[in-house]
Amino acid sequence: MSENVFNAYSGYYDLLYRDKDYAGEAAYIVRLLKQHGINHGSLLEFGSGTGKHGRLLAELGYQVHGVERSEEMVALTEQGNGFTCESGDICNVQVGRTFDAVLSLFHVISYQTTNASLNAVFARAAEHLEPGGIFIFDFWYSPAVYAQQPSVRVKRLVDENVEIVRIAEPEIHTNENRVDVHYTIFATDPLTGRVQTLKEKHPMRHFSLPELDLLAETHGFARVGTEEFMTGNKPGESTWGVCITLKRI
Ligand SMILES: C[S@@+](CC[C@H](N)C(=O)[O-])C[C@H]1O[C@@H](n2cnc3c(N)ncnc32)[C@H](O)[C@@H]1O
Repeated sequence: MSENVFNAYSGYYDLLYRDKDYAGEAAYIVRLLKQHGINHGSLLEFGSGTGKHGRLLAELGYQVHGVERSEEMVALTEQGNGFTCESGDICNVQVGRTFDAVLSLFHVISYQTTNASLNAVFARAAEHLEPGGIFIFDFWYSPAVYAQQPSVRVKRLVDENVEIVRIAEPEIHTNENRVDVHYTIFATDPLTGRVQTLKEKHPMRHFSLPELDLLAETHGFARVGTEEFMTGNKPGESTWGVCITLKRI
């Protein structure tokens, strides 16, 4: 993945995802945590973005620390009241303490496209947990990607400062389990009519369960939960986003 991913994008990130149900997702994560006896305590969030889940989870009683590679996203993050974050790469981060759970939400794991980076992230998750600790993440699910095939999507958003049109064009790499999403963002200043054009490539890897089980077992985890993100349904060809819970043995 290019080091620049999310740098240009970051300024418009919260506007692009303003309709995302972060509060509902935080409540869903709390349900999963409680299923595994984590009713309060400390959470390490990998790829914390602008801190939306982290701040909500802090409001729900957890102490949350985020790690985020994009310095632009970290700069936009509001810290305090139970939520802190640092800029860093989840492939090599060492916070220096363990947590009750590690979380990685909104397809952050799918941004780890190489076997080396995946091995590194699973190793970092294991190092920051004691035995019995939980690692929860959602990801693109291979059966759904193959069955549905990614297509071109256009999103338009407006606020008082800017009008955004984002075009997402997928480039499918079947043999690499990867889809490179080419984003073009046209940002128009409503006062001057000036248009800024940004381009970013987001390489996304998708996973099957046996592949993730192998990674999990290699790093001392067992899979203890598997479901469609948010609905809790059994994953299938229509399930683009799957959420799994791993327990450190
Ligand atoms: C789709 S965003 C999700 C952000 C946030 N979790 C949310 O739900 O809004 C993916 C995030 O993962 C971060 N990311 C991807 N790979 C990373 C890595 N190796 N280390 C740290 N952050 C990473 C990106 O910079 C980006 O902020």
